[in-house]
Amino acid sequence: MQYRTIHVDASRSYDIHIGKGLLTDVARLIRPLVGECRLAVITDSNVNALHGERLMQVLENDGYNVVKYVIPAGEASKCAENLLAFLNFLALEQITRSDAVIAFGGGVVGDLGGLSASLFLRGVKYIQVPTTLLAAVDSSVGGKTAIDIPAGKNLVGSFYQPVMVCCDTELMDTLPAEIYRDGCAEVIKYGMILDGELYKVLHEIPFDRESVVARCVEIKRDVVQQDEFDNGVRGLLNFGHTFGHAIEKLSNFAVSHGEAVAKGMVIASRIAPLCGMCDVADELSALLVEYGFDITCGYNADEIYNALLADKKRRGGTIAVVLPRAIGECILVNMPLDDLNVLLKKVLS
Ligand code: GLY
Repeated sequence: MQYRTIHVDASRSYDIHIGKGLLTDVARLIRPLVGECRLAVITDSNVNALHGERLMQVLENDGYNVVKYVIPAGEASKCAENLLAFLNFLALEQITRSDAVIAFGGGVVGDLGGLSASLFLRGVKYIQVPTTLLAAVDSSVGGKTAIDIPAGKNLVGSFYQPVMVCCDTELMDTLPAEIYRDGCAEVIKYGMILDGELYKVLHEIPFDRESVVARCVEIKRDVVQQDEFDNGVRGLLNFGHTFGHAIEKLSNFAVSHGEAVAKGMVIASRIAPLCGMCDVADELSALLVEYGFDITCGYNADEIYNALLADKKRRGGTIAVVLPRAIGECILVNMPLDDLNVLLKKVLS
């Protein structure tokens, strides 16, 4: 089977395989990494209904003893209760340090599965098998794992790299349009922050999935290799996210991550010219609208400001904001909260 492989050199080195129909090859690909072992698959109710049986067959036909744990689909599942329940499941199933976890799903499953793998027995191997565009280009790569707690999204987590990522782009054919579009916001983000050529390609809708996913993964790989533990340049990946997370939280997650990031990128782009940078807001807004995003914020400046005070990118009296200098070039600005408050009032009045 033809697929692309992107190698990541972080605290753990691993390959990310990307290709159409790759699920069939998962067992063969993981064998050199995990050997003879038991596998614990974590997935969600939607993915399980569509593809769960096929993954089990692929693994079992290759001789693996596999157990499966299914969580309800949706962001609400990325919680402490499910983390503990899955850890307990791993213990009851007598998963050992020589066994491995497979996170088969979107960002929720990947984050919860990865965090569980990092905690169980102080760390067991895990494999990411992303099934959404968003997970393929972002959450399955780079080793960030987390759950949400009542005070905020992703506030409890770890950096824990998988031993492999196996991305079958064909699985995305079954995604509802709005879930696929969520991933498009992250793809547009990569074009905006670091690759003007990729951004140009994205005007062709629909874009070529394999090559665009591979390019986004390469960009993320390069960033993660420079700053695995998120103390510098990795912050660029948060373009649109500071405001986006605030919008998700204010909407009680009725606004999806991708929609919120799209709105957040527009807010950041409107702030940029007020800080002496170029104005790409109209160009970016037009592209996002072409992809079907509603780019209106839906909240006023005070609501956004108060919501982002709980953001983990806040350091005392400042917060890290990513602003575009041009299409394909963003910079991280550590902004005093008071200044941001004033700027938000200007762009959201
Ligand atoms: N999703 C942002 C990061 O992985 O750093």
